[in-house]
Parts: sequence; C-alpha cells; structure tokens
Amino acid sequence: MLSVIVAVASDGAIGRAGTLPWHLPEDLKHFRRLTKGHTMLMGLNTFISLPKVLPGRKHIVIADDPSYCFDHPDVIVKHELIPALLEAKAAQEEIFIIGGGSIYRQAMPYADKLYLTRIDTVIPDADTFFPEVSEEDWQAVKEGDPLTDPETGWSFRYVDYIRRPGECSQEPEKL
Ligand SMILES: NC(=O)c1ccc[n+]([C@@H]2O[C@H](COP(=O)([O-])OP(=O)(O)OC[C@H]3O[C@@H](n4cnc5c(N)ncnc54)[C@H](OP(=O)(O)O)[C@@H]3O)[C@@H](O)[C@H]2O)c1
Repeated sequence: MLSVIVAVASDGAIGRAGTLPWHLPEDLKHFRRLTKGHTMLMGLNTFISLPKVLPGRKHIVIADDPSYCFDHPDVIVKHELIPALLEAKAAQEEIFIIGGGSIYRQAMPYADKLYLTRIDTVIPDADTFFPEVSEEDWQAVKEGDPLTDPETGWSFRYVDYIRRPGECSQEPEKL
C-alpha cells in the first residue's frame, strides 16, 4: 500500500530553496508517529535535505544520476521511479512517499492514501508545490481539529484522504 505524507500551505507551497518553508515541531512529531517502523520513498533532493538518516525507517532514495550511491544499512538508492512505486504499492506494508515536489507529482496517480497537514498560511517565495487534491478523486476520511503553532501562530490541521472507489490508482497490469 502506497501512502503520501505531506505538509502543504494554502497556496500549495511545500518547499523553498531546498528546505521546508516552516519549522513545525508538532507536525514533525506527527510525521515520525506515522512513518516510524515503515519504509519511506523520496527524491534525492528531499533525502539531501534531511538532517540525517531517520532512525527506525528504511529509506528508498530515487536518484537519476546512475553514479549516486549512499552507504548505509537503512538506505537503498534506486534509479527508476515507476518500478519502485509499483513494488511499493504491491507490498503488504504501508510505504510512505515523503517528497519532494517532483516525486509527489509522479507518484500521486499510484497513491492509495494521503496524509496532509494543511497549514493555514501562504509562502510567497516558495519554489516547490504539491499538486491539487481533487475532491473527485480523493475523499477526506479523517479531519483533525485545528492546532496552533506556538512559535508562528499559524493554524494547521491533519486531514487524511483515501482514493474514492472507482477512481482507480495505477495498477501494475494497466501499464
Ligand atoms: N512540505 C513537505 O511535506 C515536503 C516534503 C518533502 C520535501 N519537501 C520540499 O520539497 C523540495 C524538494 O523537492 P524537489 O522536487 O526539488 O526534489 P525531490 O522530488 O525531493 O527530488 C528530485 C530528484 O529526485 C530524482 N528523481 C525524481 N524523479 C525521478 C525519476 N523519475 N527517475 C529518477 N530520478 C528521479 C532526481 O534526482 P537527480 O538529482 O539524480 O536528477 C531529482 O533531481 C524541498 O524544498 C523540500 O524541503 C517538502
């Protein structure tokens, strides 16, 4: 099963100059709670932006550069995205797509579930965006109460979506 996890501003912004445009400790805890013990799939830019290899999680890193490698027992580098997505989708366990913009765009048609943190702000100088979550394709199944970040005063909330029945995500046999 393939899940997308992302924090997104009201204007769709998710990144700025290679990093997150915000520091929301509560959201980082939410990310850790959901992903701990699971496999995470990400693009090379997102991997590079992490402060370290995240403990207790396997990292699949997608890099175009065939010479890129990273020697760590919890990191696997792959050079082709679609086979990696299909393998992850067919897995029994929940595998998380954790970004960034280019991987989200390519992976959304394959995703079964979305975990969105909706942040009630706009980022005027953002350079990376999340695709629109169409209500035709996605149904909100869990909507958290608004929370407030004590540092910025921004409000945010967690919303989980599942793909609507009939709106099939890409299956291996259809490719
Ligand atoms: N708000 C959030 O929840 C969130 C989460 C994650 C990331 N972000 C932000 O998103 C930004 C990074 O996003 P991004 O779009 O720049 O980068 P990205 O998606 O993390 O990584 C892009 C890289 O992945 C590789 N790649 C992508 N598609 C590929 C494919 N089909 N086949 C092979 N390799 C492929 C390429 O590596 P090569 O370099 O080898 O070509 C490409 O340069 C940062 O600002 C980050 O902080 C935000």
